[in-house]
Amino acid sequence: MVKMALSVSTLMVFSLLSLAPLCFSQKSKGGYLYPQYYDHSCPQAKEIVKSVVAKAVAKETRMAASLLRLHFHDCFVKGCDGSVLLDNSSSIISEKGSNPNRNSARGFNVVDDIKSALEKECPGTVSCADALALAARDSTVLAGGPSWDVPLGRKDSKGASLSGSNNIIPAPNNTFQTILTKFKVVGLNVVDLVALSGSHTIGFSRCTSFRQRLYNQSGNGQPDYSLDQSYASQLKKNCPRSGGDQNLFFLDFVTPTKFDNFYFKNILASKGLLNSDQVLLTKSEASMELVKKYAENNELFFVQFAKSMVKMGNISPLTGSKGEIRKTCRKINNS
Ligand code: HEM
Repeated sequence: MVKMALSVSTLMVFSLLSLAPLCFSQKSKGGYLYPQYYDHSCPQAKEIVKSVVAKAVAKETRMAASLLRLHFHDCFVKGCDGSVLLDNSSSIISEKGSNPNRNSARGFNVVDDIKSALEKECPGTVSCADALALAARDSTVLAGGPSWDVPLGRKDSKGASLSGSNNIIPAPNNTFQTILTKFKVVGLNVVDLVALSGSHTIGFSRCTSFRQRLYNQSGNGQPDYSLDQSYASQLKKNCPRSGGDQNLFFLDFVTPTKFDNFYFKNILASKGLLNSDQVLLTKSEASMELVKKYAENNELFFVQFAKSMVKMGNISPLTGSKGEIRKTCRKINNS
C-alpha cells in the first residue's frame, strides 16, 4: 500500500517535471517583457490600473488579496496569459470552475473595470494579463508591501485549461514535496516558494481549506499537532466538523490586512493557518531557514518577494504575434 502510494506520487513528480521545459522557456515563445512596453502606446496605462485598484481596495480591503492571488492563479496555468479570466463559452471551459478557484477566486469584476478604463483611453492596446500583473503589484503596495517595476508586453491567451488549473496550482493539503515540485515545474525554486507564500500575510481562507487540520489530519481522527492547540480551539468555533465550509478566516490573524512578515512569525509560533503554510517550517531544512530569516527581517522578505513576483510574472508569457489583446477579459475576440 505504502509502496503504491509512493510510486503514484513519484510518477506525478516525474510527469510534472517532464512538462517543465514547455512551461518556462520564454525564449521559445519569442520575446521578453519590459516595464516600458506601453510608454508610447498607452503612457497612462499604469496610472489607470493603479487608480481603479485603489478605488476597489478602498471599497473593500480584501480586494488587494484577491487580485494578488488571481495573478498567481493566472501565471501557474499556461503562463501569465489572462487564461484565468475567461468565462465559460462554446469554445472555452473556464478555469473558474476548478478546485482552487470555485467559490474562492474573486476580483473578476475589478479586472473588468480596469480593462474598460484601459479600453476607453487606449483601445486594443493593453492586455488583460498585463493589467492583472500591474493590479497584483498595486494591491501589494496598497496593503503596505514592497513595490517593483512590472515587466510588461504579455498577450492574452485564446484558451483556458481547467485541468491545468486543477493539477498545477498547489492545494493546501499537498505535501511539501508536491508543492515544491509544482513550483519547480513553472521555473520557481524553494526561495520563491517561501517568499511568495508570504502573500498569505493578507486575505482570507475558507474553513473547508484547512478543516482537516482541526479534526482529522492524517485519516486517524487526530488533529494536526503542529497547529497550536489554543489557536485550533478558536478556529473550531467557526469551522465545525461539518457545515460552515464557506466561513472565512484571516490567513494572518495578527495583522490581517497589512502586508508584513507576521505570516512568518505566525508559522514560527505554530499558528500558520493552512497546512501548506506550516509545512514550510516542519518539512524541509531549506525552507525552515528561509521562514526564520523572513520572520526576523521584514526588509529581506520584501526584497525577495518583489524579485519572486517578477519571476512568477515571467512564466511563459505569450509575446509578439502569439495570443491577442482581448477587448473584454472574460472572452476571446471574435467569439
Ligand atoms: C504555496 C502554495 C499555495 C497554496 C497551497 C495556497 C493555497 C491557498 C488557499 C487554500 C487559500 C484560501 C482559499 C479559500 O479558502 O477560498 C489561499 C488564499 C490566498 N492565497 Fe494562496 N496558496 C499558495 C500560494 C500563494 C501564492 C504564490 C500567492 C501569491 C503570489 C498566494 C496568494 C494568496 C492570497 C492573497 C490569498 C487570499 C485571497 C483572498 O482573500 O481573496 N498564495 N491560498
